[in-house]
Amino acid sequence: MKINLHVVEIAGNVVRKTFAIENGERMVFGRSSHCVGRLTEDDRISRRHFRVEVHLPEVKLRDLGSRHGTFVRDQSEEGEEERYGIKKRKIGKKYSFSVAYLGNGDKIRAGKTLLEADIPTCCWLCNGTIPEENKKVCQIKPGIYLCVQCTHHQVPAKILKQINTYLQCSSCGQNIAEEIPNPGAGAYICKACRKQAVHEITMMQGLLTKTEDVWAQKPGVISDYQLHRLLGIGSMGVVYSGRKQDNTKIAIKIMLPKIAARAFYKQQFLENLSKYHHLKHSNIISYLDFGFASTGFYLVQEYCKGHSVAHLLANAGGKLPLEQVKNILIQALEGLIFLHQQKIFHRDLKPHNLLLTEANVVKIGDWFISNEFENMGFSNSIMTGMIGDLPGYMPREQLANFEQMNASSDVWSLAAIGYLMITGSLPRNFQEDIHPLAAVLEEDVVPILTRNPNISQKWAEVIDRGLKDNMEERYSSAQEFLKALKSL
Ligand SMILES: Nc1ncnc2c1ncn2[C@@H]1O[C@H](COP(=O)(O)OP(=O)(O)OP(=O)(O)O)[C@@H](O)[C@H]1O
Ligand SMILES: [Mg+2]
Ligand SMILES: [Zn+2]
Ligand SMILES: [Zn+2]
Repeated sequence: MKINLHVVEIAGNVVRKTFAIENGERMVFGRSSHCVGRLTEDDRISRRHFRVEVHLPEVKLRDLGSRHGTFVRDQSEEGEEERYGIKKRKIGKKYSFSVAYLGNGDKIRAGKTLLEADIPTCCWLCNGTIPEENKKVCQIKPGIYLCVQCTHHQVPAKILKQINTYLQCSSCGQNIAEEIPNPGAGAYICKACRKQAVHEITMMQGLLTKTEDVWAQKPGVISDYQLHRLLGIGSMGVVYSGRKQDNTKIAIKIMLPKIAARAFYKQQFLENLSKYHHLKHSNIISYLDFGFASTGFYLVQEYCKGHSVAHLLANAGGKLPLEQVKNILIQALEGLIFLHQQKIFHRDLKPHNLLLTEANVVKIGDWFISNEFENMGFSNSIMTGMIGDLPGYMPREQLANFEQMNASSDVWSLAAIGYLMITGSLPRNFQEDIHPLAAVLEEDVVPILTRNPNISQKWAEVIDRGLKDNMEERYSSAQEFLKALKSL
């Protein structure tokens, strides 16, 4: 299954060129020779302009901080009115990355180039493609299709009921057609309700127990846990402290996806979780339980009383002594080496994801969530717009050449955390007038000695080498980085 993006026009001239993107993949569009979606004939296209990620039925377009912006227009709209103006925004202290969800026939304008999205129609239930010739007979409601196989089996009454309410928030009943351009089966929670639930434990508990889940093979068991206090809001969910029935203290991460019960994603997620959740190492967070309850995923983790390296840094005034930095990095690297041995790449290492126990043991948190959610097209889209954070720990290849991401990409992130702990600053400059994603793509890392001239040449070499933008010049593995650190 794939989608096509047809280039239809450049500066008023008709063009015929098509980029095909497979389901589960992404493509960066721009003038740079590194872009698979290379658009060379238009000088108003930035080197890396926008990125398209396909997780059918969801197709996400993200502007990469292009100079002249990216615009998306609904196929049904006429004239120049833009549905989403995902152009460069003025960046204040808080901003959100600009994302648009594409529907079939949507027009994308970048510079003087016009593209058109050609997205296959998917079955509402099984996510299979509906061939063009079947579209008429398979349409159940406007925009909702059931494939021949699915209509052959008897569709349970519960699901039929869901089709009737498919565009309503399961919590407040409000129509959410605008929020979800390509609906699939599942319970929907609108943005406003998700936002409210984060701060109201009873509402959150309600969302996790009340709504009927027509897909549940076993009922959600979230009621086994008592939620206590909000520990923090992350990019994909929220973390509460809580207790198990036997009174053990736990941390529970709850993720309320927009489309809570998309069966095919849910199953995939739970299967992957069962493959990995039992992995244990003293420097990674242990997962005690996981599941899907009503409208949200939950992950029960060991509770880390010392919070995170982010908290530690904040309490210490932004910097830590070198010996402590070394100790934290070494522990984190031990955990990372273990994860890499299991072929797990973290991809979201940051001070908030390095947790600390009461005895100051460093534990890598969220070590498989980012992978899994990325694969499902969920990452950053679940709580979209709720937080804005600088991509300060993101290696360049994560935006530019994600297919090349490997163990050394996690090394970059960890080196960036080291850099922050030593200097109190991020390795790249993020200025007000440049989009943060563009900064990841274009701005060089500031050599650590420029920020803190008091550290030794050897320390500087080790950190700077971990932060090379060119992956070949960087430590190629966590082991190598660990060896270099230990020699200091
Ligand atoms: N096991 C845990 N024990 C104690 N506190 C935790 C635990 N897991 C997370 N936290 C706290 O909850 C906060 C929110 O965590 P969450 O993972 O949702 O967000 P994040 O780490 O900031 O970002 P991301 O979503 O990218 O991981 C963290 O900053 C951390 O302080
Ligand atoms: Mg986290
Ligand atoms: Zn089907
Ligand atoms: Zn709602």
